[in-house]
Amino acid sequence: MRIAIIGSGYVGLVTGACLADFGHHVTCIDSNPKKIALLQSGEIPIFEPGLASLVRTNSQSERLSFTTGLAGPVGEADVVFIAVGTPSRRGDGHADLTFVYAAARDVARAVRGFTVVATKSTVPVGTCDEVERVIRKANPQAHVAVVSNPEFLREGAAIEDFKRPDRIVVGTLDDQRARDVMAQVYRPLFLNQSPILFTDRRTSELIKYSANAFLAMKITFINEIADLCEQVGAHVQEVARGIGLDNRIGAKFLNAGPGYGGSCFPKDTVALMKTAQDNGAPLRLIETTVAVNDQRKRAMARKVVSACGGSLRGKTVAVLGLTFKPNTDDMREAPSISIIQALVDLGARVRAFDPAGHEQAVAVLNETVVLARDPYNCVEGAHAVVIITEWDVFRALDLAQIARQMATPVMVDLRNVYRRDEVVKHGFTYANLGDGVCGDERTLSVAAE
Ligand code: UGA
Repeated sequence: MRIAIIGSGYVGLVTGACLADFGHHVTCIDSNPKKIALLQSGEIPIFEPGLASLVRTNSQSERLSFTTGLAGPVGEADVVFIAVGTPSRRGDGHADLTFVYAAARDVARAVRGFTVVATKSTVPVGTCDEVERVIRKANPQAHVAVVSNPEFLREGAAIEDFKRPDRIVVGTLDDQRARDVMAQVYRPLFLNQSPILFTDRRTSELIKYSANAFLAMKITFINEIADLCEQVGAHVQEVARGIGLDNRIGAKFLNAGPGYGGSCFPKDTVALMKTAQDNGAPLRLIETTVAVNDQRKRAMARKVVSACGGSLRGKTVAVLGLTFKPNTDDMREAPSISIIQALVDLGARVRAFDPAGHEQAVAVLNETVVLARDPYNCVEGAHAVVIITEWDVFRALDLAQIARQMATPVMVDLRNVYRRDEVVKHGFTYANLGDGVCGDERTLSVAAE
């Protein structure tokens, strides 16, 4: 099949490379000539494990190409994916659909013959209806079927997620021809046991937002349970395991942390909340999730203060991990941003190390941090070390060496990377999440009082 993808950002590029790898002929289009020139020369503008080699092999086999010119590839395509950005609109938090509608107008002028136009960008309910209206207005003769085909891939695991998805969702206007075309696009996947779910367009659009909102809520739930564990002397990792073994709950996305970040959950929860309010069906659970998550990030700084004995004034805090999660260089809505700002406001000097995020961190954090060249250089002379992102390289640090290098050995582990006993034996004061004083110790200390 011939496929054109408008927008060579995260979703567009991964989709393009994977569909080419399935054997389709794919052209990725982007209006940014620098990005296209980079891709044509075999370079990847984003950090995603495995993507560079997938792009290279498929470009060499001439199944994948890159261009700024939309008309040619769209004219030849059986399917055109719209995978442009949908950032939060300034002021009201609604998704900004300017790029989606601009792409729809360009497609309208370029299509030849029957073409399926699939929105891959995360778009609010009703957007496909509007895309269809925009296309018909720009070119009443266009023979198109507009479908919704949301993407569920995670940064850092994007290729695996694309090639082995839990499900593929396609929303159409009860249009068998469009369904057949989309089934053909994803044929290698459902041959591989991934179910394909056909729905109407609005349902499909809402599935995407509901999935992200539910996952954000699940993380926020375990984060609040972690806080409760600390108060009542229970252990959140065991609670998570105990509830996660119930198939109705499931074990994934129950890792307590400093709050969710990234380019999707923060933006999509707010957009869904706004849609719900506008339609007179407010989602109170999501409203609370958003508020609790916002407060959590700065609350993490208070944990550092208390581990340091009540004050950070004049102290140096070493931060390990800046990106919103491991295996990405993405700093969007990273918890580290609010945590570091709060640490600085409380009088600390911050030194930080991240395996991939330095370039983007400089743009976001400006002068607030000094960047270190490795974890050991980062902790030298520090009064506390805070693990904010659970990169693998932080899982087996030489704790004895770090304890010797620090001015005071204090570790605040916001991802529960370590076990308390393996850290305290090196003389550290150790604080993590949801690891309360256990029942027996509590009873003993109460008895002693
Ligand atoms: C998320 C969804 O997981 C994808 O399914 C979806 O396609 C994507 O958004 C999107 O809409 O494009 P992503 O933002 O790449 O993917 O990252 P996640 O792995 O979901 O992590 C999001 C945040 O939640 C991170 O800050 C992470 O640290 C946090 N998290 C995740 C936790 O704090 N605890 C967990 O147990 C899991």
